[in-house]
This record gives sequence, structure tokens and C-alpha cells, in this order.
Amino acid sequence: MVKKKKIAIMASGTGSNFLAIMQRIAQQKLQIEVVRLVVDHDDAPVINYAKQFNVPVLTVSYQAGKQLAEQQIIAQLQNDQVDGIILAGFMRILSADFINYYPNRIINLHPALLPSFPGRHGIDDAYNYGVKITGITIHFVDATVDGGQIIAQAPVEITETDTIESLATKIHSLEHSLYPTTIQKLVDKGVF
Ligand code: GRF
Repeated sequence: MVKKKKIAIMASGTGSNFLAIMQRIAQQKLQIEVVRLVVDHDDAPVINYAKQFNVPVLTVSYQAGKQLAEQQIIAQLQNDQVDGIILAGFMRILSADFINYYPNRIINLHPALLPSFPGRHGIDDAYNYGVKITGITIHFVDATVDGGQIIAQAPVEITETDTIESLATKIHSLEHSLYPTTIQKLVDKGVF
């Protein structure tokens, strides 16, 4: 049997994508082992999902600065011998030094069709701009904000009756299917 790649997930919030990934692993449709969840504050709801699936959690405080926080994360992930990192709503920008530890082995999920609407509010920004089609993007992480090479995208139509909330629901449900399938494709290609 092929050894499963060891992956760390980094998240700051609700964790619905973390949950979707873990469920797909449980269904044996995603061949990775999530060996660590990294969070940047200890009341992130995603931590409860990690407990549910027995994934060890590293909580890192950024209060003493990004450099120190990133050093702690790298030390842990090297110790965990991770092959790659999946960002799932991690609300911090990783430094170039950090990314250099895992070149082309860190991916991110963005709730808009990049290069349109980068940044923290992709769903709201697309809605407020009035575009008729938005979507989601999965991309490699480089030192730019949401600027790394695109791996996969899928569109979502914004209809006359959509609100920001209904749009967010559509975006998230698409994320929960496309992120796990794209991760499996990357595993199949040997990217991780
Ligand atoms: C997702 O919408 C993702 O596109 C963005 O952060 C959100 C995380 O949601 N990067 P969740 O915590 O997985 O529910």
C-alpha cells in the first residue's frame, strides 16, 4: 500500500472546509493523512472538529510577532514531517521565508474567481461590485496575497434574488466538494 502523504491544515475560523476534508478522508475518497491542525487563536470553532477527528492541534499566538509564530509552526511541522500544507480559512499572510520551506506544496482556497476580488472579503466584494458570475479558486501560495499559480476554479452565478448570505451558502457548498477533489488530484500527480 502506498504511504499516505502527511498534511497539515491551517485555519482560523469555522472550519467547514476542514470538516469537508476530514469527511472525505473518512469516506476513503481522499488519500491523505491530516497530522496537524494549526490555528492562530484558541477559540477558533475549527478546533472542535479537530478533536472530533483526533487531529492534534497547534495553537500559535501571533502576539509576539509573525516571525516567532512562524518559527513555532515550522518547528512543529518539521517534527510532524508534513509533506504539504492546506490553508482553509487561515487569516494570516505567510512570509516568503515560511513558504520557502514548502515551495509549491502550500495551497489555498479563495471564495472568488482570482485574480478578481483578492483579499479577505472575496464574497462580499464580488456581490457588491455587481458581477453576475463569481466562484472559487484553489491556488498555490506564494509571497503575494492570493496571487500564486491557479490550480482549479469553478463558477457560481449571482442571480437577481441572491443576497450576500445566499451567495455565501452557494460558494461554501462548492468549496466543500471542489477542495477535497482537487487535493486528491494533487496527490495523484505527486505534488504533495
Ligand atoms: C472559505 O470561504 C475560504 O474560501 C476562505 O475562508 C473560508 C473558510 O471557511 N479562504 P471555513 O472556516 O472553512 O468554514
